[in-house]
Formats: sequence, C-alpha cells, structure tokens
Amino acid sequence: MVKILTENWIFGKSLNLQDYLKVGGYKALKKVFKKMKPIEVVAEMKKSNLQGRGGAGFPIGLKWEAVASQKARPKYFICNLDESEPGNFKDRSLAENNPHQILEGIIIGAYAVGVSKAFLYINGIFKEAGQKIEQALEDCYQNDLLGKGILGSKFNLDLEIFYGAGAYICGEESALINSLEGKRGEPQIKPPYPSECGLFGKPTIVNNAETLSSVAWIIENGGKKFAEIGKLDSPGTKLFSIDGAVNNSGLYELPMDKTVEQLIETAGGVKAGFELRFAQIGGSSGRIVPKSLLTEIPSYSREAEIPVGSGSVLVVSAHEDLKKILLSWINFFQRESCGKCVPCREGTFRLKGILERLDNGDFNQEDRQDLYKLIWTLDNTTFCPLGKFSVVGLKDVIRYKMLKELV
Ligand SMILES: Cc1cc2nc3c(=O)[nH]c(=O)nc-3n(C[C@H](O)[C@H](O)[C@H](O)COP(=O)(O)O)c2cc1C
Ligand code: SF4
Repeated sequence: MVKILTENWIFGKSLNLQDYLKVGGYKALKKVFKKMKPIEVVAEMKKSNLQGRGGAGFPIGLKWEAVASQKARPKYFICNLDESEPGNFKDRSLAENNPHQILEGIIIGAYAVGVSKAFLYINGIFKEAGQKIEQALEDCYQNDLLGKGILGSKFNLDLEIFYGAGAYICGEESALINSLEGKRGEPQIKPPYPSECGLFGKPTIVNNAETLSSVAWIIENGGKKFAEIGKLDSPGTKLFSIDGAVNNSGLYELPMDKTVEQLIETAGGVKAGFELRFAQIGGSSGRIVPKSLLTEIPSYSREAEIPVGSGSVLVVSAHEDLKKILLSWINFFQRESCGKCVPCREGTFRLKGILERLDNGDFNQEDRQDLYKLIWTLDNTTFCPLGKFSVVGLKDVIRYKMLKELV
C-alpha cells in the first residue's frame, strides 16, 4: 500500500536532516529550483487535487493559485500546526517524526506563491514537536535550505516558529492570524479570506502541516499519480488517528477509500468484550457513525454522508455513558468558546447546564424546548464554525434516536 506521509518513519527515532537527505529529502525542492517555474508548481498541485487536511478540504492548488495571482506585497505563508481538536494526533506526530517533510512543503509552497517570509504556528503544549521543528529549522539555515539564495537559487525565505498558547480557536485560520499579530485569538469576519487579506492585511496562505507534508511527494511523482490514489473526488493518502475501544489505538496512513468499518479493522477491530455503539469521525466536532453507516467512506467530497475532517476516528462502545459523552463535548466547546459572539458564549454555557441536568436526572419539559432552540441558535447564528461544531454530535444523537429523553 502506498505511503506518502509515513514511508520513511523510523520507529522511536525522529528523522534529522542527514536521515531525511538519505531517503531522498529535499530532492523535490532541488527539482523545483532546477526545472519548474512557480506557476508550474501551482499547476502540479492543482493536478493532484490534494484537499486541505486541516478539516475543510479546500484544494491546495486553488489556494496557491489565488495567492500567487495577488499583486500586493509582501505575501505570507503560514503552516498550521495548532491541532487542538480532541482525538487528533497526526500533525504533532508528523512534526515529531519527520519535521523536514513539513519544512520542504513550506519552502516549495513559498516559492510557488512568491513569499519570502513564512511562519510555522505550533501549539505551545507540543514540547517535543517544537524541539524537533526548531532543530530542523536550524539545520536548514546552516545547510543553505533557508535564508538568502537557497541552494544557489535566487529565492530567499525566512521561516519563523511561533508558539500558540493552546487555544482550540487559534487553529481557525483568521484567529491564528490575529494571534500571530499579537492580538486576541478571535476569528475575523470572512470574506475577505486570508488569500486576499491575511497576516498584516496581506495575501496569506494558511495550510495544515499534513497537507504540506504531501507536497514534496507530489512534486517528485507528479500530481496525476497522487490523484489516482484513493477516490477520485477525495484522492491521496490520509493520516487517521484511531482511538477508543479498539485493540490497537494509533496513527495509520491509508488511501482515502476506506469505509469506517475498514478503518476500525485497521486498528485491530473493536476490543473483545466490547460492543460498538458508534464511531465519531473528525474529533469532537465530527459526525457520528452508527452501525448502519459503517460502510460509508469518510471523504472531503461535498456529497459525503460522513465528512472526514481532520481524520480522527473515536470508537465508542456500548459500555460508555452517552450522557457523559454529551457533557464532555459541550464542556470542551464551552471552555474553548472565545467569547466574541453572544450565541456561542451564552449558548454553549446554557446548553452545558441543560446537559448537566440531563445527566443528573433533572431534565424537564422546559429544558427540552430550550435544548432545541439552543441547537438551532448554535447551528445558525454564531460568528464562526465553532458554534456549529458544538452541536454536531448532539444533533446526531437526536437524529439516530440514541437517547430516549431526546426522542
Ligand atoms: C474552530 C476551528 C479550529 C480549527 N483548527 C485547526 C487546526 O488545529 N489545524 C488546522 O490545520 N486547521 C484548523 N482549522 C481549519 C483552518 O481554519 C484552515 O482551514 C486550515 O488550516 C487550512 O489548511 P488546509 O487547507 O491545508 O486544510 C480549524 C477551523 C476551525 C473553524
Ligand atoms: S462562535 Fe464561539 S468561537 Fe466563534 S467567534 Fe463566536 S464565541 Fe468565538
């Protein structure tokens, strides 16, 4: 099975620059400088149809094209390594195991869109990943892979690491940009999108660390080859963080054509003595997959019944108390609500109160009416997607009639 992201991982050892060069690292960058104009790099990414692995699945080629065509100067390039969605550990693992693969993606991307200043925004609690990225960055500067005239070309790039404070909302690109600018980590109104008006009001790319980790492979092997892996509407391989009631929790790289059932089987299947209640795909903001939908393929296609999002798979057994799960989701979103808009700040707080009463047996008729109103409010009126995210799981619990009090 083809591996793009984890092919060169050595168990228990992080690839340093020498290791990375030995397995063909920075060959794609050399190829780009020798043989490709920036516009050709963008065209190759478009051919690959690589969709952003941060959750939304926006095609990287279109994003790069939009920024490459902007006249304003300077432009910026940001790698998003915030990863605060519960259940996800893919970006952190990429940084810990093969930091240069991410950096090579950033350098190629910066060349393609005409950027000479890039940032890597990393969640401040990722100590080991931060150390590995810092070491990789230093090695790049010392070996002519960053700075002025990279590898003898006319291309200059400075790359700076920025440690976030660990707020979930700072993974959202416009809040991340605010945070980088030294402001409160709150989302900004869109449009304009960062590709037009991003960091310091200039055209900016924000790409996820996993997305960028596929770039060098695409340049070396061609966008067409990447597009042939997995499914036509959602190509390539993907990292799946699989956890919960499975035998072998862990990180798995798989082509994007696997059903939920196959993903669970890859992690050794449901633990003996446990019965599957549902799987949740894409973190606490992810859709619920009941047994009847296990043959669905999570993907980035707009028609997908189950969006793949950031790619985590939480396997929940019938042993688990569903009311406690609902509470843990709302606790997370209420705590992480940035407070900028009333529907989310107040709505998550009130919903938490109702779900606490549901849990301790005091749920009444008034709560029931308020619950539906709050779900609608959070789903339809919040400033950014976090409000909507906070009720995705709850809506599915109601849709699939999983709790008798909510039927
Ligand atoms: C509440 C919220 C949290 C997010 N957290 C992350 C995150 O931790 N990492 C990430 O790459 N994208 C995150 N995103 C998506 C980013 O806004 C953005 O779409 C992404 O970084 C773009 O990169 P991509 O196109 O390579 O996926 C989040 C979005 C929202 C609404
Ligand atoms: S929806 Fe929540 S996280 Fe988003 S702006 Fe409003 S308060 Fe902040």
